[in-house]
Amino acid sequence: MQKFFALVPAAGSGARMGAALPKQYLALAGRPLLYHTLKQLCACAEIERVFVVLAAGDRFFAQQDWQPFADRIEPLYCGGAARAVSVFNGLLAVRDLLAADDWMLVHDAVRPCLPADALQRLIDTLRNDAVGGLLALPVVDTLKRADAAGLVMQTEPRESLWQAQTPQMFRYRALLEALRAFDPALATDEASAIEHLGQRPRLVNGDTRNLKVTYPHDLELAALILNSMEKK
Ligand code: C5P
Repeated sequence: MQKFFALVPAAGSGARMGAALPKQYLALAGRPLLYHTLKQLCACAEIERVFVVLAAGDRFFAQQDWQPFADRIEPLYCGGAARAVSVFNGLLAVRDLLAADDWMLVHDAVRPCLPADALQRLIDTLRNDAVGGLLALPVVDTLKRADAAGLVMQTEPRESLWQAQTPQMFRYRALLEALRAFDPALATDEASAIEHLGQRPRLVNGDTRNLKVTYPHDLELAALILNSMEKK
């Protein structure tokens, strides 16, 4: 029987946010942002365990109260210089716990508003898939290509273009080997490493609420989304 695990890369410094704290620890609805991310994953009973990849010198994680899901999460202090290195190091660290065909769902620490139905849709669509895939949304805005001065060079067709979200869900061994074979500086998501090996990840409809907190005003939006999700 294949099992489902999650891995949350949370070793970034959040430079674009310009805050003193890494963005996964910024306050959101009275808790660290990472708390909400882990809560959404732990609420899915099919996910056996949630591994959290932290920077080696992380001082913040141990200061928080993880009691509500302490038996479901496991911190791994093995983050790397790029997201893909953090994911790869985390996968290596748990190699004795997973079978080759078990599923690993990699989810950004900074996506705290993952709706339960989007997560379940991903798992249900892919549980019998040979390769795996990711949550994604069709591009709705018109796309412009610009030069260094910010002047439009041309308008790009948006047909067939999707925005990748997370979780991205792949078989444990396949993902480990794909990341081992790929330049981590080029991999901004797990799917690109799998694609590099000639595989075709499946796109599963994501959700606009599953936003990636990147800039300061994203926190306000995330707070509103969490508030409305909790009322339902
Ligand atoms: O920096 P970015 O917003 O792309 O980060 C996406 C996710 O990857 C975040 O959860 C961040 O903590 C994580 N990350 C990491 N190790 C790095 C860089 C980013 O775990 N070296």
